[in-house]
This record gives sequence, C-alpha cells and structure tokens, in this order.
Amino acid sequence: MSKTETGKDIQKAVNTLKKGGLVAIPTETVYGLAANAFDPEAVTGIFEAKQRPSFDPLIVHTDTLEKVKSFTTHIPEKARILAEKFWPGPLTLVLEKQNIIPDIVSSGLTTVGVRMPNHPLTRELLSLIDFPVAAPSANPFGYISPTTAEHVAAQLSDKVDYILDGGECKVGIESTIIGFENDEPVILRLGGLSIDEIENVVGKVDVMPHSSSNPKAPGMLKSHYAPKKKFYLGNINELLKEHPGKEVGVLTFKPMNTGHPYYFALSENGDMHEAAANLFSLMRKLDNSPIEAIIAERVPDTGLGKAINDRLSRASAQS
Ligand code: TXA
Ligand code: MG
Repeated sequence: MSKTETGKDIQKAVNTLKKGGLVAIPTETVYGLAANAFDPEAVTGIFEAKQRPSFDPLIVHTDTLEKVKSFTTHIPEKARILAEKFWPGPLTLVLEKQNIIPDIVSSGLTTVGVRMPNHPLTRELLSLIDFPVAAPSANPFGYISPTTAEHVAAQLSDKVDYILDGGECKVGIESTIIGFENDEPVILRLGGLSIDEIENVVGKVDVMPHSSSNPKAPGMLKSHYAPKKKFYLGNINELLKEHPGKEVGVLTFKPMNTGHPYYFALSENGDMHEAAANLFSLMRKLDNSPIEAIIAERVPDTGLGKAINDRLSRASAQS
C-alpha cells in the first residue's frame, strides 16, 4: 500500500469503515485506529497494524447512550451518572457486553470498554454509522501515543486506509478507564479525567494499582508509552550531573535554564492541562532529536498530574 491519504473527508471515513477498512480518527485524548467493532475481520486489521498482542482488549467508541445499551447488558447506576456528566469526554467505562461484541474486541472478557469521544469530526462520523468502532491509540504497540495526524502518518501510514485529520488533540493523554465491582466504580487507568472530577460526582473511588499480570486491565503493561531513546525520570539537576555533556534531551514541567539545545518545558506557566496536551508531542520531538537519552522530571502529583506521572514513569520503565 502506498502512503495513506490524510484529510477531513468524513464520508470517505464512513465508507472505508463500512467496507471493513481502518481509519485513524481524531479524539480529544489521542488519535485512535478505528475499525467496525462488530466485524471481527476488520478488528483483526487493528492488531496487525499495531503489532499489538491479541490479549489486550480494545475500547469501543460510539455517540449515544441508546447505542451503548444496544451492545451492553447492564449499566450500573454510577456508570450512568458518570456517563451523563462526562460523555462525550475522556472517560472509558468497562461494562458487561452483549454477544454482538466479538471476542477479539474484548479479548475474551465478558466486558467491553466504552467511550464517547469529544471531537466534532469524529462525533459526526459516529453519528453516520450504525456500529461502534473499536479503536486503540493509533501508534505501534508500546510506543508514544499520537496527538496529531502527522504522528499517525509517520508511523502507521502504509497500514491505515485513511487518516481523518482533526488537528491537535486538546487533552493529549488517554481516557481515564473505570471498571465496576459490584456496581462500584474502580479506576483501572489514570487519564484525561482527574480523580477529583470523578469523586465530585460519585464519591470516593478506588484506584487499581497497575501491573502487567492484572487480569482486570490486561493492557496496563508497566513499560508503555515508551520512546526508543533511553528515558530517565527523576530530579533534573541530579540527572544532569549523572549525564554530563550536551548529548541528552531535557523535559521539565516549567521552563528552566539548562543550557541544553534539546530542551522543552511541558508548560510555560505550570498549567497541568497544557502539560498534558504537550506531553506526547514533546516526548516524540525529543525521541526524534539527535541526542542519546532523554531526562525528565515528574510534575506535581495533583489533578491531571497523576496521569501525566503515570505516563512518564511507564515511559521510563525500560531504561
Ligand atoms: O483515550 C483513549 O482511551 C484512546 C482513544 C483512542 O479513545 N484509546 C486508548 O485505547 O487508549 P488503548 O487500546 O490504547 O487502551 C485501551 C486500554 C487497554 O489498557 C486495555 O487493557 C483497557 O483499555 N481495556 C479495554 N477493554 C477493557 C476491558 N474490557 N476490561 C479492562 N480493561 C480494558
Ligand atoms: Mg495505547
């Protein structure tokens, strides 16, 4: 296949999905690699394109609660409250599924992750189809998630049928995933919706510690979101001493004078939303820079900072 077309042609995206093809779609979190979730063969294409282990279940995306009810069996009260408050938005709810969701989507689990993304192009696309789309982040498995159409094209270009270009993702990190135990919410993955926002609506929620062997969140491998370069996380001044010379790239929360040519701050004035929106783009920029390693610091562990720190520590897990 030659280089994939990128554009804003929603009808082309619709037709491609209807034919069982793969379309990269913009969302407010990250770009997704979408296929008809009811079509197991189409979904197989996602795993091939991403080289993703098939034990890792996918999130399905749709645009109305009516549609969600047509492929799930039970929506706990607190799930309904969260859906009404935060959908469309950076929240995924893990719900009991109907058989119409094939095993390849859920990796054989009885549940399916469901999300209503908040992006005008993708919402229009979803309103024009009568099936949900399964869509993991549109990056090769384990690598940094894409937050622009160019990121998708750079890595999956020949493996996708069409890239729907919706500009830069506004939130910039993946959705918060919530599962239910006896109808009580449990956070399975930290993400673009903060714990505080969730607890304001449904009261105290547990956060499941992530581990690669956790059957509740099989995709939560410790090492993930990883650049190809070595990635060290810690105190910037100490890391600079450990890595003298200018061959490292530096990523900080707020601007800092390091004298390094490959230096980026996540936010100009310490705004956590701006930091989240810039995170993956800057990690990618550094990964593509002529340096040997990347050193970075954690951000304050408040609000979205917890999800940013989760991504940073997983990016560093291999180093
Ligand atoms: O923001 C997002 O969530 C993005 C955009 C494209 O919507 N999608 C995304 O998908 O991050 P992905 O495939 O990269 O991450 C899906 C995560 C995996 O860690 C997987 O384990 C978890 O969702 N997941 C999916 N279905 C699940 C289920 N039934 N039970 C538990 N975890 C599930
Ligand atoms: Mg992903």
